[in-house]
Amino acid sequence: MKVDVLLGLQWGDEGKGKVVDVLTPRYDAVARFQGGPNAGHTLEFEGKKYVLRSIPSGIFQHGQINIIGNGVVLDPVLFRQEAEELEKSGIALRDILRISKKVNLIAPTHRLLDAANEAAKGAGKIGTTGKGIGPTYTDKISRNGLRLGDVFCNFDEKFAAQRARHIARLKALGAEPDAEKLAELDKAWFEAIDYLKTYQIVDSEFLVNDLLAQGKSVLCEGAQGTLLDIDFGSYPFVTSSNTISAGACSGLGVAPNKIGEVFGIFKAYCTRVGSGPFPTELFDETGKTIRDLGHEYGAVTGRERRCGWIDLVALRYAIMLNGVTQLIMMKSDVLDGFDEIKACVAYEIDGKETRQFPFSIEEEIKPVYVTLPGWKTDMTAMQSEDEFPKAFRDYIEFLEKELQTPITIVSIGPDRKQTIVRSRK
Ligand code: GDP
Ligand code: IMO
Ligand code: MG
Repeated sequence: MKVDVLLGLQWGDEGKGKVVDVLTPRYDAVARFQGGPNAGHTLEFEGKKYVLRSIPSGIFQHGQINIIGNGVVLDPVLFRQEAEELEKSGIALRDILRISKKVNLIAPTHRLLDAANEAAKGAGKIGTTGKGIGPTYTDKISRNGLRLGDVFCNFDEKFAAQRARHIARLKALGAEPDAEKLAELDKAWFEAIDYLKTYQIVDSEFLVNDLLAQGKSVLCEGAQGTLLDIDFGSYPFVTSSNTISAGACSGLGVAPNKIGEVFGIFKAYCTRVGSGPFPTELFDETGKTIRDLGHEYGAVTGRERRCGWIDLVALRYAIMLNGVTQLIMMKSDVLDGFDEIKACVAYEIDGKETRQFPFSIEEEIKPVYVTLPGWKTDMTAMQSEDEFPKAFRDYIEFLEKELQTPITIVSIGPDRKQTIVRSRK
């Protein structure tokens, strides 16, 4: 058996949580492989709404195993909050969740460093989620990280060494923490570590490979999006992990030849939260309309999401990097009332047109748009693709041709049920 991967092709918030939940019944296990509580994955069903941050979106179906893989960074305090909420809603999380011994832990000082680094950047700040993601991955890569498996051996010593290093760095940044406040944060953190220890902490690389060997199927759930990838995204305005499909290999311990389908998920338009370039961003009424209709406010920070037209240059790049085999289009309902819809098919840079994603998108880029007629139909109650209006079918066909990849699922609303799986010819 192979693992399938589902990941975002834009700047995150494409609707990954919703679709992982919809696809979960097809799988035996669901696994997160990178990122941490910077993610906010929203699911809606039976009139209830959940936002997941570190816990995979496969926990609400039929007892599938859910795995937090080694590539994830975990904040024990936020994990505890999230897990306790879910347990209150009746999810038997301890039975279905497995956590890798190799996840790196986010400490209180990582979050303080995140804030201090941002403050030091001034106007050039990244606009991070403030969850300590960058500093935690920095410690991992510089071989100074604390891993969950460490809690079983000399942990206090390792923690103290890390803490002292962080405080020195914070002092250098002019952000020395208040000792009393930090002691409080540490206390809550250690209590959360004790809570975390009551979960099944495993060698998840063996778990995943054993599942595959037994003929079981695994869905990997990406966080963030391809344009936030540390190598290929709009650097430095990116997150600190590999969000692309290759990240599933290193973030779970599965070999590249074990990757099966790659589901690439995108919105029928485009959004971004935080700073950084966004070639098709709209600063006019249309952008505002998309934000209002799409409720485009961050699931983690509540920040306004910047909105713009779909960018096919960036999507082609993302499809190439991830080896996407199937596309999933989200939130087309947000455009249901539009007279016309634009799609950026190329960039004009220095008077020259290119279809290739450039080294830096911080330069002056003029998007080259194609304008398509809107479908002007409320599609939110539709049950099958047979009901799709002609203009919408034409839009799908246009995208499939431009992107050279089939769109196999269309999402027409936030609820689990508002999902149309297309038949494949
Ligand atoms: P994720 O981070 O990729 O899981 O996405 P988020 O949960 O951060 O953001 C997606 C938002 O869009 C959430 O509020 C979802 O409930 C909502 N959503 C998902 N699919 C659809 C859709 O097809 N239509 C509409 N209108 N909302 C959707
Ligand atoms: P999901 O999984 C959207 C953005 C932040 C910031 C940059 C770096 O819900 O799609 P970080 O805290 O990771 O160091 O911030 O990345 N960002 C996201 N934007 N969705 C996310 O996750 C994001 N996770 C991080 O806004 O610009
Ligand atoms: Mg999100």
